[in-house]
Amino acid sequence: MTGAATESHATAAIPAGTCYKVLMWEEGALSAEQLTAWQNARRELLARMRDAGIKGARGNLARLGEELRELSQQAVVAPLDACAPAGLSLTRVGALAAKLQREEGLLAYRLTPCSATVLVELTGEEGIDAMMARWASATPELQWCSTPLVEAVSAAEAAEWQESCRCTSADNADTGAGEEDATEFHHVTVLRSEAVEALQPAEGRVLVDATLGGGGHSELMLEKGATVWGIDQDPAARRAARKRLAPYADRLHIVAGNFRNAAGLLRAEGLETVDGILADIGISSPQVDQAARGFSFLAEGPLDMRMNPAAPRSAADIVNTAAESELADILWQYGEERASRAIARRIVQERAKAPITTTTQLADIIATVLPRKGKQHPATRSFQALRIAVNDELGALDALLETGLSLLKSGGRFAIITFHSLEDRAVKRYFDRVTRPEIDRPEWPAPRPNPEYAARLVTRKPIVASEAELAANPRARSAKLRVIEKL
Ligand SMILES: C[S@@+](CC[C@H](N)C(=O)[O-])C[C@H]1O[C@@H](n2cnc3c(N)ncnc32)[C@H](O)[C@@H]1O
Repeated sequence: MTGAATESHATAAIPAGTCYKVLMWEEGALSAEQLTAWQNARRELLARMRDAGIKGARGNLARLGEELRELSQQAVVAPLDACAPAGLSLTRVGALAAKLQREEGLLAYRLTPCSATVLVELTGEEGIDAMMARWASATPELQWCSTPLVEAVSAAEAAEWQESCRCTSADNADTGAGEEDATEFHHVTVLRSEAVEALQPAEGRVLVDATLGGGGHSELMLEKGATVWGIDQDPAARRAARKRLAPYADRLHIVAGNFRNAAGLLRAEGLETVDGILADIGISSPQVDQAARGFSFLAEGPLDMRMNPAAPRSAADIVNTAAESELADILWQYGEERASRAIARRIVQERAKAPITTTTQLADIIATVLPRKGKQHPATRSFQALRIAVNDELGALDALLETGLSLLKSGGRFAIITFHSLEDRAVKRYFDRVTRPEIDRPEWPAPRPNPEYAARLVTRKPIVASEAELAANPRARSAKLRVIEKL
């Protein structure tokens, strides 16, 4: 498997009836030559198996059966797993997942950007062909290849495969992130009613939650009757939200991807304009709390920090390969760390002895430069800086700001919650830029109409958490909500 994004899910109890594993793929995911070579080799093997069966040569039959499996693996499964993730395909994966969830007979599924493997149990009258036809008609927009790879599996094999889907496949994009259960996804939603009310949710209104997370904001939007398109780049968050929001599955669409591409992702789904967009920027509590995600200096874990586990560069990659000056710039710009140069120098000295691979190893190195003062751990600012760099958080926010308005209908609302001054500054500046009727150059002759004028400020001052919210959730203390409305 490559680093392509995948999703895998187990959806029901271990089967009792006849089970099939069905691999479907998008038209064009395999070339015509690949398909012909596979089908010819398969036809030949099937003919030899038929002969062996007629002759009662059981040993030979079993060996040929193994060869058939191996052929499918090499000619179909491996090339599909290596299929490059394209934005469009990722959204199709999300759409297919949402639809599959509703189909009867599904035990588990595993999705890559251009293929879907489903484990199904046949019960009742329906045969496998009828079931496949039913699914094909349930997902007409996906244009699945008409020749799926169908394999009967024993109950034991089915149970084993289902178990492997309950976690995620170990070598794919969901690295380590599939082991949590949605009930373990504890994220206390910040400014929940303030942010959601700002988007005026109601039946018939279409809202985008650009940072789905555990689904806290989306849930309230859905409760109020809106249709929600939830985007998240973290497969663990998508899984948790899908589970929590299952009662609203008919009005919820989960899209895998980065909100920097929100316009493209949604247009690929046929959505041109929406009534509101919310972004609750930053990381979720489970991302920090799970040591395996590598965000926290308080727990030993791999130095990772990727919200999207399939992203190309982890924190360890940056720490072990970036030039000293680049490291210092990251720590200074994103962490406002005054000792940035000294820390960068020490990191470079230490990595020359041995690679820096864990969170606590890096935290200890930073602590040798900066002695602890007060309550804050000396690594706090450096970890924040690295996280922002790994996930290009400010770049993604800028891209969302630049494209968000184009997605909104007239009167549509754009609401953003930020958690630190770098983000809030970017939002404030952009909102200011697009809500001024005139260019702010008093030295120019009037009139000075602002070509970017496209919205009005809904919040002149940012909305912050109430005393009651702060008492219940201290993490809300730095949250700021700003809202504009498209003219
Ligand atoms: C603060 S949490 C959102 C919590 C959510 N509002 C709730 O109440 O459950 C932020 C989420 O946004 C996701 N995220 C952050 N930056 C993103 C980006 N550029 N593209 C897509 N998802 C992103 C993170 O993976 C995380 O799940």
